[in-house]
Amino acid sequence: MRVSRDLRGWSLALGVIFLTTATGFLAKVAFERWSKPVTVFQIAPYLQPGDDPAGGPLALLWQTDVETSVWSVQVRDRAEAAWVNVESPEVRRFDLENLAPFQLYRAFLEQTHSPVRQAVGQYRVLRDHIPVFHAEFSRKRASGAAERIVVLGDCASATSEQKAIAFQVYQARPDYAVVTGDIVYTYGRVSEYLDHFFPIYNAGQASETTGAPLLRSIPFYAAPGNHDLVMGDLDLYPDALAYFYYWSQPLNGPLEGLGERGVPILRGAQAKQEAFRLAAGPAYPRMASFSFDKGPIHWTVLDSNRYVDWTDPERLDWLRQDLNGPAAQRAAWRFVVFHHPPFQSSHAHAEDQWMRRLAPLFEAAGVAVVFNGHVHNYQRSCPMEFVPDTSEALQNLETVAGQWTLDRGFDGVSNIHPRGVIYMVTGGGGARLYNPEQHDHPESWQAFTTRFVSNSHSFTVVDATDQLLTFRQLTEHGVEVDSFQIGKPPLLAPGSR
Ligand SMILES: [Fe+2]
Repeated sequence: MRVSRDLRGWSLALGVIFLTTATGFLAKVAFERWSKPVTVFQIAPYLQPGDDPAGGPLALLWQTDVETSVWSVQVRDRAEAAWVNVESPEVRRFDLENLAPFQLYRAFLEQTHSPVRQAVGQYRVLRDHIPVFHAEFSRKRASGAAERIVVLGDCASATSEQKAIAFQVYQARPDYAVVTGDIVYTYGRVSEYLDHFFPIYNAGQASETTGAPLLRSIPFYAAPGNHDLVMGDLDLYPDALAYFYYWSQPLNGPLEGLGERGVPILRGAQAKQEAFRLAAGPAYPRMASFSFDKGPIHWTVLDSNRYVDWTDPERLDWLRQDLNGPAAQRAAWRFVVFHHPPFQSSHAHAEDQWMRRLAPLFEAAGVAVVFNGHVHNYQRSCPMEFVPDTSEALQNLETVAGQWTLDRGFDGVSNIHPRGVIYMVTGGGGARLYNPEQHDHPESWQAFTTRFVSNSHSFTVVDATDQLLTFRQLTEHGVEVDSFQIGKPPLLAPGSR
């Protein structure tokens, strides 16, 4: 009897131990499941300008592996407001030769409807009806409101300076950012975007050594550079030309009537080119050049790569109409951005100045500033006018001869009314600096250059109102190395409108 009672006691004890252990195990599994960060994203949600050049709803994109979850997006004005569903996201599947298949989702964040216009709204992304991502987003400002823009270039190259710049951009709290090309090194590949674009500009935490959560809250716009559109041979890198996959920008560029003339050249086997076209959809080739209006500024974004013939009459017509059209001329300011600088003083890329031919068009349309990259440092020109030499012997040369007139009276402080166009190279966004030896040698600069900073990485901050533009150039440590202003009314160049 006694033995039997002991056995029952032991059985009971073992049962209790088993139940306790099993419950603890299950509780631990449940806890870990809820407490772990969501890892469903290959690319966490990031904002893009979307299709509307007039500033319609922003696009929100994210990437997953191939899976069958139901995804949705909700927005609201402020923390206590009710969430509102936006239209279901569209999904595209990518099957690229050197990568596991993946899916890219795109939804549009409708403008929220608070009677008091908030500078930010909120959105969240739900997977199978469970929220898995939440962020604030920069909203369209009321007409006439000031906007802060960051401009940077030659950036995603996985350097410590790129991360420090991303952190400084975050500290500046811009409404949006514009990239002057060479967005992702070295070949503009999907794998390079995954490795050193998204993790740095959409980092979970902000720090000088990791980057910052920028892309989830502000849209980036970009002009394509040579590393984005020229370096990628699809035979060598079947995931190249990812610019056409990951960017969602207005498709209002100069394609009508141009066909395949002067568009990004595809290299590689026919089957690989077809796979690329299928994956890129309507973005290729149209998204290489485009324009958009945001706040007080009309932006014209050009593909300046060498395969583009900017003497083509139809292409020039598009540019003329864009710069002189109602949207551009209604805007308080006109800015142009493209990769290859027409006027710059570095010994590096000194020959790559073919875009000079467009200077008279910019002057005639009253363009205030042209932003470029390609040269990895910072340079600012005097306000200037340029008459290209169009004699036949000088056609098709990479460096365009001609005559410039410089406005040396403009200092951006006591005289803020430029006569002509200011050309800024802001290409110090992360890649190795060019010509640091020229920094302290103004005698090595061209006559039109008034500022030349090649001993630090840097980016541009622009504060824009209808009446005043304030420019500051900040280093990767947040140190100001240049500043100037442009005010209304601008002085028009002689002979212009
Ligand atoms: Fe470049």
